[in-house]
Amino acid sequence: MIKKYRYGSPFPTEATVQEYPVTPAPDAYFTQSEKDGAAVFRYPLGKEDAVFGLGEQVRGINKRGWIYENYNADDPNINEARVSLYGAHNFIVVNGRKTFGVFFDSADKVTFDIGYTDPDELAVTAKNVDVYIIEAESILAIVHEFRMLIGQSYIPPKWAFGYGQSRWGYKNEADIRTVFEGFRKNDFPIDMIYMDIDYMLDYKDFTVHPERFPDLSKLAADLKAEGVYLVPIIDAAVKVQEGYSVCEEGLANGYFCTDSEGKPYVVAVWPGESLLPDVLNPEARNWFGSQYKALLDQGIEGFWNDMNEPAIFYSTGRLAEALDYIASIEDRNLDTHAFNKVSYAINSLQNSPEDYAALHHNVDGKRISHAEVHNLYGYNMTRGAAEYFEQYCPDRRYLLFSRASYIGAHRYGGIWTGDNSSWWTHLRHNIAQMPGMDMCGFLYAGADLGGHCYNTTEDLLLRWLAFGVFTPLMRNHATNGSREQEPYLFKEKRAFKNILGMRYALLPYLYSEFVKAALRGEMLFKPLCFEYPDDKRAKTVEDQLFVGNSIMIAPVCEQNAAGRYVYLPARMKMIRMRAGDRYTERVLEKGEYYIEVALNEIIFFVREGTVVPLAKPAPNVASLDETHLTWLKFIDAPTVYELATDDGFTRSGIAEGLVEVTVEP
Ligand code: NOJ
Repeated sequence: MIKKYRYGSPFPTEATVQEYPVTPAPDAYFTQSEKDGAAVFRYPLGKEDAVFGLGEQVRGINKRGWIYENYNADDPNINEARVSLYGAHNFIVVNGRKTFGVFFDSADKVTFDIGYTDPDELAVTAKNVDVYIIEAESILAIVHEFRMLIGQSYIPPKWAFGYGQSRWGYKNEADIRTVFEGFRKNDFPIDMIYMDIDYMLDYKDFTVHPERFPDLSKLAADLKAEGVYLVPIIDAAVKVQEGYSVCEEGLANGYFCTDSEGKPYVVAVWPGESLLPDVLNPEARNWFGSQYKALLDQGIEGFWNDMNEPAIFYSTGRLAEALDYIASIEDRNLDTHAFNKVSYAINSLQNSPEDYAALHHNVDGKRISHAEVHNLYGYNMTRGAAEYFEQYCPDRRYLLFSRASYIGAHRYGGIWTGDNSSWWTHLRHNIAQMPGMDMCGFLYAGADLGGHCYNTTEDLLLRWLAFGVFTPLMRNHATNGSREQEPYLFKEKRAFKNILGMRYALLPYLYSEFVKAALRGEMLFKPLCFEYPDDKRAKTVEDQLFVGNSIMIAPVCEQNAAGRYVYLPARMKMIRMRAGDRYTERVLEKGEYYIEVALNEIIFFVREGTVVPLAKPAPNVASLDETHLTWLKFIDAPTVYELATDDGFTRSGIAEGLVEVTVEP
């Protein structure tokens, strides 16, 4: 059951796809008050209550004990002191004495104080907001109701479930070909190579550097013939330059964000002075989406949308003020206070709330300050691209994922979790983030495997990939200047080959479970207590997950660990996999075990009564042989498994492609 009520006059986010009448009185769950013009919703937390959700956020699976401000943030310093990351996903489930879900639908900041100020209180602060209270008989049923409310999750083409190699630093065609050769020579599977900002001419969206990539169409075609797709990045900001058609067209039509008087608001990102497409204006959004044609026409079928919180290095107006201030300082002997002022003048330029307030959108002829609709920017950039793809080739699926997001964007593309670091704690954080993102509809999701910032190590990359085997987006990506982390550069080549191969062996299962979860509004990654709500021990487990209906995983996320403790909430069959076609099985009763896991293997657990289809590892998704599947089984009677057998490319036929296969014990 869903009840909706309203505070203030919320901007239409289009997060939901079902209409509910507004109930006049606040729901009984909350006491409602007002503070500084915002509504505060308070709920007393019982000692054992847990709070799940919030999508891509900091900290653990149970969000209790911290304060979270959902306001899309461009900041690579991800750590547990942070309160905002790149996405704003305002859905939570309170689980304990009472179990219910709440979605705070607001384009503006929403603050979730989950036992931070008062350990026994949940206090959510929002300004103009629609609040949806969802009741059902279990956490999973609540999530399902919510997912029906927000509409079906995006399903990418099947090749997007292969392995992707990326790095900020591939500069030209030769670099891309070297990566491909590195994989082929070592017999490592691969489906995607990503292109970061250096493929563009002067960082101009939808251009290709003519010397670095003299023939992108040919490169894309050559790689596609080998089963590999090129996936370029698209940034939100458009360089200001005469003669650059995207800039000129956008200016001529009033498609960029402006100041409060309607003059284009100049900000700077990679190319220097730039303009932000006004993606909240439907006409401008369609126009920006149609620009992807330049790359689609060259054989590109996938994109990642970046810097769309939107990231702003500085605005020209505020930079001028800061430089004037610095120039005005006569005494160059700066004491700590004077120096702090100088630092502040520069450091406060980036992503400043003042710029967000000064930047304006044109929505139905009304000028709206960006600050109030900030969380909708990345969402609508991605929506514009997705809607254009549908026009470009109506029945084809394209790969599309974004850095910034809001609920609603899950219908148009996936997300990646931005600039994590090559830290063991970030591998663990990646595990904790997956179920939250699933709850909010972002099924096609993943982190930069191996870590984005700083230097990875061989063992961290192996362990992270062993977890990445299970994440729908399986991409290794790292920042400029960090240690190179293409798997073929490390010593244990055989281990990398086998771990990547396991992804392909498990792909029939992972893809089938993904498709079912997307079509039916279910979760792919489930915390243990979502499946075993009465098991108190399960509620405390933060580093194990169910993946689909048959498998539980327990990744190793500590350096030099020979294995880890694993909690089994029920009898299961442990699979120890050395290669996609080499594994051992052992039945374990419910309980706690220390399980050794070598760096070159993965373990997972098959639930009683279920089966897992297995293919032979293959060099890419296109060459997977799914007609000769073998099965991992923990059954004593014939069992039906619904296998996704669609063509992997078209949108139509996904549901019909689910076929029931009976597996004998
Ligand atoms: C920021 C993105 O988060 C990162 O993945 C990318 O490599 C850099 N921008 C450069 O484009």
